[in-house]
Amino acid sequence: MSGLRLTLTDAGEDFDTAGAAAIAETVVADPKAAVVVATGRTPMGTYGRLARALPAGAGSALRVFQLDEYVGVPPSDPRSLAGWTRRSFVDPLGVDPRSVVWLDGLADDLRAACRAYDDAVTSAGGLDLAVLGLGPNGHLGFNEPPSDPMSRTREAALSKASLASNAGYAPGLPVPRSALTAGLDVLLAARRVVLLVSGAHKHEIVRRTLRGPVTADVPASFLQQHPNLQVVIDRDAWQV
Ligand code: F6R
Repeated sequence: MSGLRLTLTDAGEDFDTAGAAAIAETVVADPKAAVVVATGRTPMGTYGRLARALPAGAGSALRVFQLDEYVGVPPSDPRSLAGWTRRSFVDPLGVDPRSVVWLDGLADDLRAACRAYDDAVTSAGGLDLAVLGLGPNGHLGFNEPPSDPMSRTREAALSKASLASNAGYAPGLPVPRSALTAGLDVLLAARRVVLLVSGAHKHEIVRRTLRGPVTADVPASFLQQHPNLQVVIDRDAWQV
């Protein structure tokens, strides 16, 4: 795993600051970088910190790609991952939402929507940075186990673990059963990956991700083979 850079932090502010610094590195090196960004609990403090740390407008030219979206959920729905991406990352950085490549979970033809997404990644010249969280079962985006490393952007049924983990995102509302997800092929081909991991509940899956066999049963384990991976992780999760 020669491409691995590990950034071990305290939980909370220290973690958020390190995550923001990791993303800012790419923004400063290339203000027009093509970046895909996760939602979820883990990166929220990091995104807030990033927006405060960057000079005004510094992130506004980023070419942002949504990572995943529930099927059948409009952007105005409190569960929408597009809405969450917009509130947490796109708007605070001053990115024009019309320039973002969204995943349309309401499309009549979901396969065509996924193909259009992959085409947009290709037109962008591939992703410069993937900012990812680690699912409780080792998923990346909604590339649920088992996922082939060449998986394209597609509709995926959510696993029980993901349904349980995502239940708290929009309390009181049912978690949709399926989602569109950027494929492992485009994520693993990103020139740089920043994986953000926090919390003691992640320590076993972190161990399997970084030290276990590289297997479709732990999709994140393919990151072991990535040439430019930074894992920002807090001490609660780092008990490998
Ligand atoms: C979110 C996403 C998921 C999460 C993962 C970790 O867009 O694609 O893969 O990154 O489930 O979620 P949290 O951070 O809530 O533990």
